[in-house]
Amino acid sequence: MFRPTFAVVDAPAIRTNVAAVRSLLESHKRLLVAVKADGYGHGAAAAAEAALAGGATDLGVASVEEAVALREADVTAPILVLGVSSAVGVRQAAEFGVTVTLGRLEEVDEIDKIPWPTPSLIPTGACVESPGQSLRAKVHLKIDTGMSRLGVRSAADAVLLAKRIVSSERLELSGVFTHLACADASSLAHAEAQIERFQEALSALREAGIDPGVVHAANSAAALRRPDWHFDMVRVGIAAYGYGPAGAFDSPVPLVPALNLYSCVTRVATLQAGDTVGYGATFTAPREMRIATLPVGYADGYFRILSNRASVLFQGRRAAVVGNVCMDQLMVDVTALPEVTVGDCATLYGRSAPEDWTAERLSAAAATDLNAFVGPAFFAGNSASILSLDELADLAGTISYELMCALSPRVPRVVVAL
Ligand SMILES: Cc1ncc(COP(=O)(O)O)c(C=O)c1O
Repeated sequence: MFRPTFAVVDAPAIRTNVAAVRSLLESHKRLLVAVKADGYGHGAAAAAEAALAGGATDLGVASVEEAVALREADVTAPILVLGVSSAVGVRQAAEFGVTVTLGRLEEVDEIDKIPWPTPSLIPTGACVESPGQSLRAKVHLKIDTGMSRLGVRSAADAVLLAKRIVSSERLELSGVFTHLACADASSLAHAEAQIERFQEALSALREAGIDPGVVHAANSAAALRRPDWHFDMVRVGIAAYGYGPAGAFDSPVPLVPALNLYSCVTRVATLQAGDTVGYGATFTAPREMRIATLPVGYADGYFRILSNRASVLFQGRRAAVVGNVCMDQLMVDVTALPEVTVGDCATLYGRSAPEDWTAERLSAAAATDLNAFVGPAFFAGNSASILSLDELADLAGTISYELMCALSPRVPRVVVAL
C-alpha cells in the first residue's frame, strides 16, 4: 500500500445484519442477499460468504457474468440473475447451475434458436437431474407490477410466458417475482397496489394450472416492515450492508454499516487569511488555518459534490472538507484539531479509525499482512463515532447505495475475518 487510502469491509457486520433480517422471517422462508455490483461495492465473494454465514439461502446478482465469477470463487449456493440475460447467457447460466430471470416471450424464442448442449456434451457439474436428460436453465418469471423496468405487464401475459417456459425443453420454471418501487416510502399505497397486481397474476397462474415455484417480492424495505409480503423468499440488499433503505421508516432490527473508508494525512499546512484551497479556489481562509491533505478523491468514489459540504473524522472529531474534492486528493480543516499531523488516519465514512492506525504503521503492515494488522484492530476504533453513508448521501443528493457502489476498484479492501 504505497498510498495510504483503504477500505475496511466488516464481514462480521454483514453476517450480523443478515442474521438480524433472518430473525424476522418464518424459519422455512428463503433469504436472498443481493451481492450484485461487486456486493454493493464490498466485494462480491466476501459479501456472499458473510451473507451465507448469516443465514442467507440464495444470492442475487445483476448478470450471468457476476454469477459465473461467484461460481469461480467456489460459491455453490443458489444464485439468481436479477437482470436481463441474452440467450447465450441463459445457456451459460444453465451450465453453471445459475437461475435466470425472464420477462418477455421473445427471450424464450431466442433461447430456442441457439445451439444447445446435447446430453453427452453437458459439462460436468451442470444442472441436470439424471444422465441423458437435457440441460435446463432454471427460470424465475418477472412480473412488472409498477416498476416499469423488466417483466410482463399483465396477468394474461404472465400466463402466456409461464406456459411457454414450461413447454420449453431447455427451461424450467422455478420461481415468479416482482420488484417494488416504493416500499421505503412513508405511504405504502404504491407498494400495496403492486402487491395486489402481483397477487392477481399469481392467481391467474395457479388457475391455469401452473406451479409458480418460489414466489418473492420484498426488497430490504418490504422485508423489514411488511412480514405479510415475505411470500416464499425475500431479496435483501442494502440492509445486509448495514443501512436502511432511503425512506421514511426505522428498521425493526439494528443494522451495522459494513463499509468503512480511511485515508491518512499526507501534509498539514498553515494558511493565512485570504489563501485559497483547491481547484477553482472555492474556499478562502477567513483567518489563519491548518489544512490537512488526504490522498483520496472522486476517482476513489468520494464524490466531488461533497466539496465544502462533508466532513471527515479524526478520533471521532470532525474536520470539514474545504475546497473542491480533487480526483485523487482532498483537503480538510484541522484548525480545531491541533494534534492532527502527517500520517494520522481520517475516517471518510464508517467506524472511526483506531488511534494507532498511522500511515507509517499501515504501510509497514502492508509489507507483511495488512489484513492481520487491520482486522483485529478494527473493532478498537471508536464505535460510538460512525460517519454514516446516509449523511454523505444526503449531502450529495443521492442514496447510500450509490456511494457504496462508487467505491473504486483502485481502493484496496481489507476484509475483516468472519
Ligand atoms: C430485483 C431486485 N431485488 C432486490 C434488490 C435489493 O434491494 P434493496 O437493496 O433495496 O434491498 C434489488 C436491488 O436493487 C433488485 O434490483
